[in-house]
Amino acid sequence: MKKFLCVLLIVLLATSAMFAAGTAEAGAKVTKIGVSMPTQSLQRWNQDGANMKAMLEEAGYKVDLQYAGDNDIPTQVAQIENMIAFDCKVLVIAAIDGSALTEVLKSAKEKGVAVIAYDRLIMNSNAVSYYATFDNFKVGTIQGTYIRDTLKLDTEKGPFYIELFTGSPDDNNINFFFGGAMSILEPYIKSGKLVVRSGQTSKAQAATPNWSTEEAQKRMETLITTYNYGPKANRLDAVYSSNDSVAQGITNALVAAGYGKGNFPILTGQDCDKPSVKNMIMGIQSMSIFKDTRTLASKVVDMVNAIVKGTPVDINDNKTYDNGTGIIPSFLCEPVFATVDNYKTLLIDSGYYKESDLTIN
Ligand code: BGC
Repeated sequence: MKKFLCVLLIVLLATSAMFAAGTAEAGAKVTKIGVSMPTQSLQRWNQDGANMKAMLEEAGYKVDLQYAGDNDIPTQVAQIENMIAFDCKVLVIAAIDGSALTEVLKSAKEKGVAVIAYDRLIMNSNAVSYYATFDNFKVGTIQGTYIRDTLKLDTEKGPFYIELFTGSPDDNNINFFFGGAMSILEPYIKSGKLVVRSGQTSKAQAATPNWSTEEAQKRMETLITTYNYGPKANRLDAVYSSNDSVAQGITNALVAAGYGKGNFPILTGQDCDKPSVKNMIMGIQSMSIFKDTRTLASKVVDMVNAIVKGTPVDINDNKTYDNGTGIIPSFLCEPVFATVDNYKTLLIDSGYYKESDLTIN
C-alpha cells in the first residue's frame, strides 16, 4: 500500500510538472504585440494594420491592433498606455505626431517594452529601438526627377510654372519627401527655369495639416484664384504633391478650374491609393509611388521575431534617422515608381488590388 501511494504521488507530481511546463510553453507562445495606427480614414493605414495583424498572428503572437480615431493624438497616447499596461512585449507605432509620444514611451522603456517606429519616425524618445520604413528621401527624388524629366528641364527653354505641396508639419517624413524633391527641383527654381508664382517654396508654406485632401483642395483653389491659373489663363505646368491624399485635393481644384485629361498639369503622388490610381487612369494625376505595405509589414514581423528571440535585428541603415536622442537603426524598403503604364503589373498582377477595385464608374 505504501509502495502504491508512493508511485501515485510520483505520477501526480510528474503530471503536474508536465502540465505546468505545458502551460508555460503555451504562455510563451502568446506573446502580445501592440500595433498602433494613426487613422482608418486613409486606405494605406487600414492595409498596413490588416497586413501586420495577419502576419503577426500567423507567427503565433496575440495582436492588439488599434486605430487612433481619425488622427486623434490623445486617443493614440491612451491606446499606447493600455498596450503597455496590458503587457505587450513589443509596440509597433505609426505616430500621428512624431513628437507627442515622449511621455507615454517613458513607461515602455521602464518596463523593457521594445518600440518599433513604423513608417514615421518617433522623435525625442530614447525608447525607440528600431525604425522600419521606406526610403523616404528616395520617394522625394523619384517625384522630383519625374517632374524634371517630363518637363525636360535640362533641354527645354522654359520657364515652366509649378506650385508645391507637401504633407503634415508634424510628420518627420515630410523633411525627406519634400527635401528629396527639392534636391532635384531647387536648382531649376534658382535659375528661373521653374517658376513658383506664389513664391511659396518653403516646407512650412507648402505644408498640408494632417495630409488632408480638403485642406489641399482649399489651398489649390486659393492659388488658382490668386494667380489666375487655368487652361485659358496663366500657365500651370506642374504641381508637386508629396502624397495621394493631398494630390486628390489638388486634382479636385484643378478639374473645377477646367483642367482635364490632355491638358492636366503634371501632378505627383505617393501610396497608390485606389482613388489616385483611378485618377491616373483618367489622366488627372500623373504618377504615384508604390510602397508595398506587405513588404513593410513582413519586415516588421521579422524585427519582432528577432527582438522576442533576442537574435540580431536585420537593419540596412544606421546613419540617416536621428530622432533627437541619437541615430535609430533602421530598415528602409524600396519605393517603386508607378504610372498608368505599369500599374497593372505592380498592383493587379502582384495581387495588391483586384481589377474591380480600380473600375471607374
Ligand atoms: C506616409 C505616407 C502617407 C502619409 C499620410 C506618411 O507618413 O509615409 O505614405 O501618405 O503619411 O498618411
